[in-house]
Amino acid sequence: MQITVIGCGYVGLTTSVALAYIGHRVHCIDQNQERVQALQNGIVPMHEMGVAELLGQLRDRISFGRWDSFNLTTEVIIIAVGTPRKDNGEADTSYVEAVARELGQRLSGDGLPIIVNKSTVPIGSARRVESVVSYYLKSRGINIPVTVASNPEFLREGVALYDTFYPDRIVVGANQGEAINILREMYAPILEQTFIPPEFLPRPDSYNLPAFITTTPTSAELIKYAANTFLAMKISYINEIAGLAERVGADILEVARGIGLDKRIGVQYLNAGIGWGGSCFGKDVQALIHTAGQYDYDMPLSSATIQVNLRQREEIIRKLQSALKVLRGSTVGLLGLSFKPGTDDLRDAPSITVAKRLIEMGAHVKAYDPVAMENCRKSHPELDMLYANSAEELAHGSDALVLVTEWKEFLSLPYNQLGKLMRQKVIVDGRNVLDRQLLTEAGFNYIGVGR
Ligand code: NAD
Ligand code: UDX
Repeated sequence: MQITVIGCGYVGLTTSVALAYIGHRVHCIDQNQERVQALQNGIVPMHEMGVAELLGQLRDRISFGRWDSFNLTTEVIIIAVGTPRKDNGEADTSYVEAVARELGQRLSGDGLPIIVNKSTVPIGSARRVESVVSYYLKSRGINIPVTVASNPEFLREGVALYDTFYPDRIVVGANQGEAINILREMYAPILEQTFIPPEFLPRPDSYNLPAFITTTPTSAELIKYAANTFLAMKISYINEIAGLAERVGADILEVARGIGLDKRIGVQYLNAGIGWGGSCFGKDVQALIHTAGQYDYDMPLSSATIQVNLRQREEIIRKLQSALKVLRGSTVGLLGLSFKPGTDDLRDAPSITVAKRLIEMGAHVKAYDPVAMENCRKSHPELDMLYANSAEELAHGSDALVLVTEWKEFLSLPYNQLGKLMRQKVIVDGRNVLDRQLLTEAGFNYIGVGR
C-alpha cells in the first residue's frame, strides 16, 4: 500500500519504519525542515532502539519531505503530530487541525484516501478533522464524503519498534466498514505475524497474535486516554502503598510481587520509585480530567494520580534532606536524566524536577546520563548543573547520589570504588534496582523507595 505519515516524531517515524518493513511504501512528511533534512540523510533525530538501523535498510521504501512533497495517490494518510498540554491541562489540537486544513487544501476529489488519526486527541477529534477537511474541500468545489478513522498508538519509548511489531491489540475506531477493512489490510502482516522479524527484534516465544478491536471513533479516542491514565494510576497506587510500607516497615518489592501475581492485577507497572514521567502520562491524564470538566464531571482518581506522582518527586528531596541534614552547599549527583532508560527524552522527566528543587535549595547538582546529557544541555539551559563524563566523575566529591533512571549500566557500577570518591556515602535508589545489601556492606547509607 501507499501510505503517507504526517509528523516524523517518535510515533510517526517508528510507525513509518515498521510499515515500510512489513512491505508498504511510506512517505513521511514533517514541517520541520531540519528534521526532514536529517532523515533524508539517514540521521535519526532521536535515540530509539533499531529505528536508525531499519531506516538504513529500507531506503527504497521510505522517503521524507515537507508538505510540497505530498503525493495525491496515497491510499492512507496517518496523522502523527504532537498534541502537547496547554497550561489549563487541555490537549493542544492546533497541530492536528493544521494538518486537516493542509489536507483539505491539497486533496483532490479522486480516490480520496482514508485519513487515520494516530495522535492522542480529545474525544470528538475524528469528527473535527473530518469537518475541517470537508470544509476546505468544499471551498474548492469538491463535495465528497471524507473518512477519518481513529487508530490510537500504545507504543512505549525506548522499545517503540518492539511494541509496534508485537502489540497486544490494534484499536480502530471508524464509522465506515471500508476504513476498517483498509486498516485491517494495512496491519495484516502484524495481525497475522507473517513478516520475518528483524534479527535484533525476534518475536517473543510467548507472543499471542494481537486482537483487532473495532469500535467507534469516540470509543477509540477514550480507550487511549483511559489506558494511559490507568497505567499512571497503577504506578501512583504502588507509590502510595510504598510510602506506607516505609512507615510500617514493609518491603514494597515483596508487597508488589504479592499483589501482582494475582492475575487480575498483574505484576507490570507496579515498580515503585521516583514516579512516572514522559511525554504522555502527565499530559494525557490532565487532558482526560479536562475533558470530564467540560461535561461537569469530576475524576477524583485521575486527579489523585497526578498528586501522588508530584509528591513522589518531593519525597526524594525529603529523603536527601533527612540523610544530609543540610542541603545548602551539599553536592548531589544524579545518575540518569531521561524519564526512562532507552531514550534521551526529557519531557516531564523526574530528574528535571529534582534538579530544579535541589538548586533552589542551594545544593550543587551534577548529572550523568549515557545518552540524554546533550538534550538536557539544549532543552534546559536554565539548570545551573555540572555534567559529568562518567559515573566516577559524578561520584567525585558528591555527598549523595540519586539513581533517577534505571539504565542497565548503573546496575553494575563499581559502587565500592565510587563510594571512596564521595564526601559522604549516601545513595537514594529512586528505582529500587540496586543491591541494598551490597551497598550497605560497602558502607553506603542506602535509601530506597518503600523499603
Ligand atoms: P513529536 O513531538 O516527537 O513529533 C511530532 C512531529 O510532528 C514533529 O516532528 C513536528 O515537527 C511534526 N508536525 C507538527 N505539526 C505538523 C504539521 N502541521 N505538518 C507536518 N508535521 C508537523 O510527537 P510524538 O511523541 O511522536 O507524539 C505524536 C502524537 O502521538 C501525540 O499526540 C502523542 O500524544 C501521541 N503518542 C506519543 C507516544 C510517545 O511515546 N511519544 C506514544 C503514543 C502516542
Ligand atoms: C507510555 C505508555 O506506556 C504507552 O502505552 C503510551 O503509548 C505512551 O506512554 P512511555 O511514556 O513511553 O509509554 O513509557 P513507559 O514505559 O510506560 O513509562 C512511563 C513512565 O512510568 C516512566 O517514567 C517510567 O519510569 C515509569 N514507570 C513505569 C514506573 O515508575 N513504574 C513502573 O512500574 C512502570
